[in-house]
Amino acid sequence: MRWDTAQLLKRLFFAERSLLISQASWIPAIAPLDIKINLARYVWQSAETANALRERVFELRFPSRMMEDEGNDRALIAVFDTVRDSPSVPAFLLSVGTALLPAMRDAYQSYLKASDLIADGPTHRFLTLAVQEKTEQISGFELWIEAARSRNSDVWSQAAAWTEELGKRLFAVGGVGVESPASFLPPGRPLGAKPYSIPVHPARDGRFWPCRFYWPDIVDPSYPYGEGIQLQLRSAISHLNEAWAVEAGGVILSAFADILPWEWIYNSARWTYDESRHCRMGYERLMAWKLDPSWIPLGTYIYESATTVDESDIPLNLLGMLFFFETKNIRHKPERARLFHSYGDSLSEHDMDFDWADETLHASYGKRWLKELLAIRGQDPTAYEEVRKKCEHLVNDYVRTATPAEISALKTAAELLLNKARQLH
Ligand SMILES: [Fe+2]
Ligand SMILES: [Fe+2]
Repeated sequence: MRWDTAQLLKRLFFAERSLLISQASWIPAIAPLDIKINLARYVWQSAETANALRERVFELRFPSRMMEDEGNDRALIAVFDTVRDSPSVPAFLLSVGTALLPAMRDAYQSYLKASDLIADGPTHRFLTLAVQEKTEQISGFELWIEAARSRNSDVWSQAAAWTEELGKRLFAVGGVGVESPASFLPPGRPLGAKPYSIPVHPARDGRFWPCRFYWPDIVDPSYPYGEGIQLQLRSAISHLNEAWAVEAGGVILSAFADILPWEWIYNSARWTYDESRHCRMGYERLMAWKLDPSWIPLGTYIYESATTVDESDIPLNLLGMLFFFETKNIRHKPERARLFHSYGDSLSEHDMDFDWADETLHASYGKRWLKELLAIRGQDPTAYEEVRKKCEHLVNDYVRTATPAEISALKTAAELLLNKARQLH
């Protein structure tokens, strides 16, 4: 009946919500760029499904628009939340990829089988898509798990034990299924749990040239941003290095998930996904020029400016950092798109044009949610400009820590890349 259906969809919403928060929070800890980029996309897909579930619950319970909390599903959601405390990257990948995601896919499939296509048609449409997406996500995780298995043999048995324990707990609470849940929660944390903390240093893909500052103009204002091939390359390097923004998006999504309303999660999931597309634009552009990843600088400085210079409020710093860089760079973008057009580089032009539209949306997210956060903290909501200024100072302070050796190595790397790009162009 209508009320029971709403109850079940509410459970699926909370499970999807928990899953996406955990995935977002792990983005900085996972090194392979491919995983960072796709995890951001999965987070966004989950947020879209969760949002559709939530809206459907409201429709079925009209006129009530109250979501309450997990209610009878508290034990189930607590099991889902556990993966955030995974002891290692392989343990996280294995438990999400082989326990939680298949549980969600199976639950959606059972729902579609058990429910009425006519009476509940609107749910059928978005859950059919959700099953397809979950199937794709599971395949993605299987590939990553295979790669992790070959690299980290010692943590593998721990990851397997962790996943087995999680599976037992999921079974004990009755699974996600369409049956009514048990509200029994196995006591204590599972063996091996490691309380989640925000990574201070983001993990970097070893295929790239590792550095803190990814282009000489960051540490040397006299170094030209350039034009022609130099500008095309610089812009692709910027896009690739938006890896930091994907990580920041994931961290802030999870850090403020229980403080801000659902719309925050929904907006920041999209934000994180958009940044992953910008990062991928740079990656694909550089690969299309046939540049070897080992020549390409992949830095950490913006993320670390928010986590190492001032550790008092890392999530707020990361949000402020996104807002600072987006509002700082946005004005250059239409002009650069025009220049790329004049070079006949339609790929760079196209990327920059779409990037501009995304960043305009993000600037509004930044302003809105910084204001709401400040208000919740009892501070003046109009002081969001001060957060932006503070982040500018944090970055400047961090940039000043660049050593002469680091700067000269970076200039050598940039010249090498530029020469390779000229040769291959
Ligand atoms: Fe971006
Ligand atoms: Fe952005």
